[in-house]
Amino acid sequence: MADESSREGTIAPKSREDDIGYDLTLRPKTLREYIGQKSHKENLEVFVRAALARDEPLEHVLIHGPPGLGKTTLSQILANELGVQMHATSGPAIEHKGALAGMLTRVGRRDVLFIDEIHRLQPAVEENLYPAIEDFRIDIVTGDGPHAQSIQLPLQPFTLVAATTRTALVTGPLKSRFGMEIRLDFYPPEDLALIIHRSARMMKLAIGEDAAMEIATRARGTPRIANRLLRRARDFAQVANMKSIELEIARLALDRLGVDSLGLDEMDRRLLRVLIENFNGGPAGLETLAAALAEPKDTIEDVYEPFLLRQGLLMRTPRGRQATLKAYTHLGVPPPAAPGNTQGALFG
Ligand code: ADE
Repeated sequence: MADESSREGTIAPKSREDDIGYDLTLRPKTLREYIGQKSHKENLEVFVRAALARDEPLEHVLIHGPPGLGKTTLSQILANELGVQMHATSGPAIEHKGALAGMLTRVGRRDVLFIDEIHRLQPAVEENLYPAIEDFRIDIVTGDGPHAQSIQLPLQPFTLVAATTRTALVTGPLKSRFGMEIRLDFYPPEDLALIIHRSARMMKLAIGEDAAMEIATRARGTPRIANRLLRRARDFAQVANMKSIELEIARLALDRLGVDSLGLDEMDRRLLRVLIENFNGGPAGLETLAAALAEPKDTIEDVYEPFLLRQGLLMRTPRGRQATLKAYTHLGVPPPAAPGNTQGALFG
C-alpha cells in the first residue's frame, strides 16, 4: 500500500496539514488560471467546450503523474469549467460494491466523480464500476443462491476523472474505458516561478525575480512543494524583518530546510547514499533497498524515485536500481574505477 506518511520533510509532495488551507485558496479554479502543462490544457479546453455545446458529459479522464502535480486540482477545474459538482473519493475509500453504488447514485447529470488512487480499487468494486462508466447503470444483485436476482439501476450520465501515481497498476480493461489520458509531468522551473509569483500575489507577499527562480529550481518540479517552500521563505523573511523575499533569504531558508541545489532533501540523499555506500552503487532490488531504508516499497516507487529518475540520478535496470555518475558527483563521492569492470559499463 502506498504510504507517503513517512515522507514528512518540507519537500514531501503529499499534502500535509499546513498545506490544506493554502492549497484550497492558492489552487487555480479555471483552465485560464492554470499555469503549465500547456498541451493538456489546450486539449482540455477544446473537449470541455465541445461537451458543453453538445450538453453531454465530458468523456472519462485518466490523469497520471507523481504526487503534488495537481491531479485533484485539474479535476476540480474540469468540474468548474463544466459548471457541475465534483464528488471526490479514492480507491481505498470505496470498501465494497455497496459503497460504490451509494456514491454513484448521488452523482448528478454531467457531474464529475473524482476517484483518486484508482489503482487501489478492489477488483470486485472495479468490476462494478465498468457498467457504470460504460452504460451509466449499475447491476445490483439481491438474494443469493438460486434466488439471486440482478437488478439494473440507471445512473445519470457523468464523467469519471480518475487519478493514479502508478499507471502500470491500472488494469487494461479499466484503462480502455477512458476517453482520454493525461500524463502530468514535472513542471519546468520557469512555470514554477510563475506559480510562485501568482501565489505570492494571492498571499500579498513581495518577492524578487531571482528569489522566486531560486525556489522554483529547488522545488522538485512540483507546485505543491514550490508553494510550501515559498511559505517557509516568508517565515524567514518575516523573522528577519524584511518586507520582501529576496535571493539571500530564500537561499538561507532553502539551505536551513536541507533542500539542496537540485531540490533533493535528506531522504533523497539518504536513498542515493545507501545505494552507493551499501550496495556499491547498485544494482539493488527494490525490496533490498526498501529494507535498508526502512521505508515501504510503494513510497520509494511513488514518491522518491520519479524525480531521481527524471534528474538522471538513478536508473532502473532489469537487475535493480542503480546510482548514476551524476549521483556520485552530486554527493561528492568518488565514483568506482571505470572501464573493464561492470561498474564502468554504467557510466558509458
Ligand atoms: N498552484 C498550484 N498549481 C498551480 C498551477 N498549475 N497553476 C497555477 N497555480 C497553481
